[in-house]
Amino acid sequence: MVCLGNICRSPLAEGILKYKLNSSQTIVDSAGTAAYHQGEKPDVRSIAIAKKNGIDISKQQARKFLVQDFDEFDYIYVMDNLNYKNVLKLARNEVEKSKVKLILNEIFPDDNLDVPDPYYGGDFGFKKVYEMLDNACDIIAKKINPNE
Ligand code: 4NP
Repeated sequence: MVCLGNICRSPLAEGILKYKLNSSQTIVDSAGTAAYHQGEKPDVRSIAIAKKNGIDISKQQARKFLVQDFDEFDYIYVMDNLNYKNVLKLARNEVEKSKVKLILNEIFPDDNLDVPDPYYGGDFGFKKVYEMLDNACDIIAKKINPNE
């Protein structure tokens, strides 16, 4: 799960997908295309909306997306078109490029919609982001683990 800072959107996506895949062997992680918040916990507003929904994301630590992530992961879900462009730039070949997907295309295929960056807004933005990611992760979890 990849966003810009790895403190608002992608930590939520990581927490939600892990929760939905709880008995699976799948490794879920998140990262940011920028390193401004490296080592920090998620934004307090992301921690709060996750907690309200029974998910603890408070132990996560922000890190930067690395080219080696293409070796580790089969799917790389990005939160918006800017992150999509920046992650694609790091891909070393067509196979790696094909791993990168806009997360909301899981719900609205080919619409190329962004999960809006809630950082400069209020709590309502975080609630909307949570709902979008919850819906997208339902679809992703069913694809990864059809029997869950
Ligand atoms: P995120 O949100 O990409 O969802 O983690 C942001 C967090 C921090 C900043 C921008 C977006 N920032 O500019 O510091």
